[in-house]
Amino acid sequence: MGGHYTGGAAPHLASPSLRDKAIVDTPDHRDPLRRFRWLAVVTLVASLALVALGGAVRATDSGLACPTWPGCFSAGDFVPALQLNVWLEHSHRLVAGAVGLAIAALLVWAIARFRHQRGVLLATVAAAVLVNVQAALGALVVLRLLQAELVTAHLGMAMLVVACLAYLVVSAGRGQAQPDASRRDLGLARTSMLVTGLCFVQILVGGHVTGLAAGLAYTDFPLMGGAVFPEITSEREAFHAAHRFLAYALVLAVAYLCARAARYRREHPAAPSRSVRLPLWAAGLVVIQVGIGVGNLYSGTSWLTVIPHLAVASWIWVVLVLGTMHAYRDAEPAAAASGSRDESDRQLVNR
Ligand code: HEM
Repeated sequence: MGGHYTGGAAPHLASPSLRDKAIVDTPDHRDPLRRFRWLAVVTLVASLALVALGGAVRATDSGLACPTWPGCFSAGDFVPALQLNVWLEHSHRLVAGAVGLAIAALLVWAIARFRHQRGVLLATVAAAVLVNVQAALGALVVLRLLQAELVTAHLGMAMLVVACLAYLVVSAGRGQAQPDASRRDLGLARTSMLVTGLCFVQILVGGHVTGLAAGLAYTDFPLMGGAVFPEITSEREAFHAAHRFLAYALVLAVAYLCARAARYRREHPAAPSRSVRLPLWAAGLVVIQVGIGVGNLYSGTSWLTVIPHLAVASWIWVVLVLGTMHAYRDAEPAAAASGSRDESDRQLVNR
């Protein structure tokens, strides 16, 4: 597989020519970040699985299926009886524990070996802090008996942990040339960031719809209570309607992002193909998400649609976060100007 440059901050690679050479020449197995990046990717995937499992626990009312902690029916019971609710709650705890341990390992590893790489260190510290806040919030959610605001905050925090891990994966990836402010084109990166922000708001509002048990405040589609703009008489209706309007806004925003990405690629033919591929992935997932959202209404918020709805929301989020981060990194002039650099980018993108 192609070469790999292992970080923008490497002092011995300060000259652009050396950096480009390193991208092409460094064999993958000599990349000191290779194993670290692998653990970061596994942790990111596990945290996405954890989000879906959390949704499954809530949607099936399995939260109290294991009365003790950390074991299920006694402190040391780590292989409880084969029963769906019990195993959903138990595996949620196991995966949460594994994600926590993996983040702790990444933190120790980053401090020991990669503390000179600012992006890597910052992302790992942020993930470690946020995952602890998340655990505390989780406990509070149970103590306050699923208070809607706390459920929403818990979901938002989960998305921030996912974003930190995505940032870590990107930071631990290939290096970056020194930006040249006069030639950088940050248009796509900024658009992508705005769309990602809109997605975050939509996820929080969706979480609040669930927390308020407002999923069926209106059951018809595309109208709400027979009207395009229904008369809002309660908080539940307000959040439900907001969630629908934000969904339409997100559809338009992601469509615009795809068009913006296509224009960016036309203007910068050497830019990596991921600058268009990631927005397209996000658009596809948003279309699927609208379908599942409508399914939520017609299934009476069955777990069969509620769990995929939450999972797909987290995938849209991670794809948009990755797209934004890559768009910022790829906006450097070297990516557009240097043929050899572009070739190495292509190799890395296709890995
Ligand atoms: C297009 C982007 C959308 C995103 C990112 C999104 C995201 C979310 C999220 C994160 C939740 C909370 C899920 C949970 O905590 O388990 C949620 C709930 C919900 N969403 Fe969406 N949603 C979208 C579109 C839609 C659409 C178009 C509809 C309906 C037409 C819809 C209907 C619902 C309903 C009914 C709930 C509440 C489910 C429950 O009561 O458990 N969503 N959404």
